[in-house]
Amino acid sequence: MPKIIPVDIFDCVVFGATGDLTLRKLLPALYYRFRDGQMPPESRVIGAARSALSDEDYRARAAKALEKHVAQADRDPETVRRFLGQLHYVSIDATAHDADWSRFDTVLDDQRVRVFYFATSPDLYGPVCRALGANGMVTELSRVVLEKPIGHDAESAHAIIEDVGTVFSESQTFRIDHFLGKETVQNLMALRFANTIFERLWTADVIDHVQITVSETVGLEGRGGYYDKSGALRDMVQNHLLQLLCLIAMDPPISLDADRVRDEKLKVLRALKPMEAHDVAHLTVRGQYTQGAIDGKPVPGYLTDLGSDEASRTESFVALKAEVRTWRWSGVPFYLRTGKRLPAKVSEIVIQFRKPPFSIFPPETAEWRPNTLIIRLQPEEGMRLEMMTKDPGPGGLRLSPTGLDISFEKTFGKRFPDAYERLLMDTVRGNPTLFMRHDEVEAAWAWVEPILEAWAARPDHPRPYPAGSWGPTAAIALIERDGRTWHEEIV
Ligand code: BG6
Repeated sequence: MPKIIPVDIFDCVVFGATGDLTLRKLLPALYYRFRDGQMPPESRVIGAARSALSDEDYRARAAKALEKHVAQADRDPETVRRFLGQLHYVSIDATAHDADWSRFDTVLDDQRVRVFYFATSPDLYGPVCRALGANGMVTELSRVVLEKPIGHDAESAHAIIEDVGTVFSESQTFRIDHFLGKETVQNLMALRFANTIFERLWTADVIDHVQITVSETVGLEGRGGYYDKSGALRDMVQNHLLQLLCLIAMDPPISLDADRVRDEKLKVLRALKPMEAHDVAHLTVRGQYTQGAIDGKPVPGYLTDLGSDEASRTESFVALKAEVRTWRWSGVPFYLRTGKRLPAKVSEIVIQFRKPPFSIFPPETAEWRPNTLIIRLQPEEGMRLEMMTKDPGPGGLRLSPTGLDISFEKTFGKRFPDAYERLLMDTVRGNPTLFMRHDEVEAAWAWVEPILEAWAARPDHPRPYPAGSWGPTAAIALIERDGRTWHEEIV
């Protein structure tokens, strides 16, 4: 196992310190990095939020969050105690004109790397950054971390990028898409660029189509206020799914340098065929879940989860067909789907290769399946290459598909760090490779926006689908009318 190299001593100010993201993801991630010796014990995490809490109150909340979100086997009481000792709390309404920024004076050190993490609504990014700048809080060693979504459309994203940019340079700005920190997503780079066998096959001549599925079993989980304004296209497609598409479709970068990788991803985003309003009706499907069952247990529909009597037109499911207009990909459809309250939590990418042009095997001897590479991001991270092989034994030549499997867990047999652990340490190290550059964010919005506009202009509602199903039947029709089918071994 590679030796863990501690990062520089840092102070991390988390705005939105009492919110769900901080308690569920950020504090557990920092705890693990502390436990594994990567977060130096002199570092400090300073929670900042409006509630009036003391350091001790905040530590008590953090302790509860760790109990809930860190496996018991990983929670050695002494380590937890020492970690909690590094947490501090500053009560501040960061948007108020009279906010007392001097409250940070006692807990921040000018000589250290300083991370400002915004686990807040994006409306606050601009105003709080300006306040940080105006109050002399931004040092040369400072970085700002912005959660997605950056804005809710191209214009608001641009405004945030400009606002934040007046205080933090691009190299100080880390726009998180936590999918990029997932182990298997990073492995996509290794798969494609550290192996010779795939790269030459990675073209329209050999690949029939690509599928990207990110399905979740959860519903709104108390995030209805945010989600209903966002919907699956903004919450998942604009960022996570398009980033996955980029990593699959991009050309080899000339180096691993952050900007060289991001240049290649940007080219893919710019090569996505824009959707005209008349395309949207047949190239996209939006759905909203109704009551149904997950794991055999009844669950309510979207509107009940939202607690709203009024009909909402927000989609909890999207399927769409995209096209990357380049020499490499021309004519290869990319089918994307994502949704809440689907039968399984799965993220996977399926690369389906073309069928052999001609078969020497009589049709009755083979249950033909084209070669398929399945890259599983979660759960059970791994890869599987489906090949045709001969059934063993005498009695004639019979063929059937067999999988070559790599399970990362079985092969490497250890806990994979959560994406946030890696990303948080990367911000301290100042390594932006796994973060979105401003032009990527803007290009992704530019592609998504006509879909949002076309949907808004249509009188119809998202198509209903029962919780626990794979979305509206129109999503199946979207791919089947092209003579293809969604990869089925997902459940
Ligand atoms: C977040 C979305 O970015 O990703 C959530 O806002 C979604 O709606 C989550 O549930 C999924 O992430 P993961 O890591 O659980 O697959």
